[in-house]
Amino acid sequence: MAIFSFTVLIAFSLAITLTQTSILAEAEVKSGGFSIELIHLASKRSPASLSTDLFLEPLGTYLINFSVGTPPKFQLAMTDSKSYMNWIQCEPCVECYSQNLPIFNSLNSSSYKALSCASPKCFQNNCEGSHCTYIAKYTDQISYSYGDLGMELFTFYSPQGVEEISFRDILFGCGHISKVEGIGPKISGMISLSDSRQSLISQIIPSFGKIFSYCFVALAHLDVPSTLRFGENAWGITGSVFTPMLVKKSEPSYFLTLLGISIGDKRMDFFGNSSSNMFREGNIAIDIGTAMTVLPTSFYNQIKTAFIQAIDAEPLVYENNSTSQLCYKDLIAVPSVTMHFIAANLPLSKDNIMFPKGQGIWCLAFRPTEGQAYYGNVVQTNFLVGYDLNEMFLSFKPTDCTKLA
Ligand SMILES: *[C@@H]1O[C@H](CO)[C@@H](O)[C@H](O)[C@H]1NC(C)=O
Ligand SMILES: *[C@@H]1O[C@H](CO)[C@@H](O)[C@H](O)[C@H]1NC(C)=O
Ligand SMILES: *[C@@H]1O[C@H](CO)[C@@H](O)[C@H](O)[C@H]1NC(C)=O
Ligand SMILES: *[C@@H]1O[C@H](CO)[C@@H](O)[C@H](O)[C@H]1NC(C)=O
Ligand SMILES: *[C@@H]1O[C@H](CO)[C@@H](O)[C@H](O)[C@H]1NC(C)=O
Repeated sequence: MAIFSFTVLIAFSLAITLTQTSILAEAEVKSGGFSIELIHLASKRSPASLSTDLFLEPLGTYLINFSVGTPPKFQLAMTDSKSYMNWIQCEPCVECYSQNLPIFNSLNSSSYKALSCASPKCFQNNCEGSHCTYIAKYTDQISYSYGDLGMELFTFYSPQGVEEISFRDILFGCGHISKVEGIGPKISGMISLSDSRQSLISQIIPSFGKIFSYCFVALAHLDVPSTLRFGENAWGITGSVFTPMLVKKSEPSYFLTLLGISIGDKRMDFFGNSSSNMFREGNIAIDIGTAMTVLPTSFYNQIKTAFIQAIDAEPLVYENNSTSQLCYKDLIAVPSVTMHFIAANLPLSKDNIMFPKGQGIWCLAFRPTEGQAYYGNVVQTNFLVGYDLNEMFLSFKPTDCTKLA
């Protein structure tokens, strides 16, 4: 199967300018693409894997291993598909958290280019002297990064490290003041896979026909790596269902339209978080970096109630309020659950609905919110999820992701 074949892609020689990359890219698209490993924070490959509450948010996120600069320096960064930009911690540190790998020093890299204030890529129009600066803030209200915007050579590695691919002049933040909450601050930074112009995806995807996919292994099989794949062979048509995807100017996420969820033979409609009985287009964002599926409180409560009714077992904790989790001990059977997106019905398995909390305890992988709804990464496990950014649709194909590693 083509999906297993790697092609060595030597993307750039030093003589090639940025404007020529798309010419090279067309040849690369034909050669089948490239894949990299997504390292789950709770897997043994992750520096955070010693932490106890592994599956509590925000720990259900994926890391990627790459290198920056010339000579290349290894980095391990978190990914998400709802933030604007990439950044890593850089020397000199005014305020850095401790990380496992050495902190990047742009002075030691011959390929680093500082961004001038006049550059059209200086997207926040923040400057210090003639230097373009950035500030990245996150919805947890705690994590942030501040520093210089620059461009560098980024190199990615295929899962066994057999092949590598490099991209020149990737826009990123060189953070001199950074804080990341909640993951055991050991990672080098943040890689954005969103649709913002500054994200990694937007900068490299033209080289791959604007197509990428991923397949997350179930949390019970984290010893097997998950993969992120770029290019035409990223997914197959056979066995896939397709649903339209849209992007919004206001937020850098990929949005889907969820019509409802069926639990057993009960179907509940989803109108987003508004009180009107109208389906809103793009009412849920699909995210790589959020473990739980996050639903507006009233809808979440409907789902939870239907779930409790459909399961032939006593919940471990009867919650006092909507924020606490619905958990069961030694849960064997779950009711059939189907996600209804526009044109795509997705039957889910236990691994999508519940996450293992340890000691035989399984908890519902959904939680309530008063804000934006997210389709989390637990519910996406064992689907080959394909993004076509030309035609703006998403494909889901039920897949044993351990077989794609
Ligand atoms: C990186 O640069 C700093 C300052 O210029 C220097 O002290 C350090 O030795 C360099 N490190 C390496 C690995 O070259
Ligand atoms: C990152 O990739 C390189 C090259 O394949 C490999 O040598 C290194 O061990 C990897 N690091 C991690 C943390 O996976
Ligand atoms: C529910 O709330 C009451 C009072 O707020 C508290 O005493 C009790 O322990 C709570 N029960 C659970 C299961 O959290
Ligand atoms: C809801 O319950 C959780 C634990 O069950 C507790 O931490 C939280 O403070 C409670 N929230 C409210 C608003 O009572
Ligand atoms: C609904 O979610 C949006 C984010 O999509 C948020 O801006 C808005 O405040 C929310 N409205 C309510 C009533 O919670």
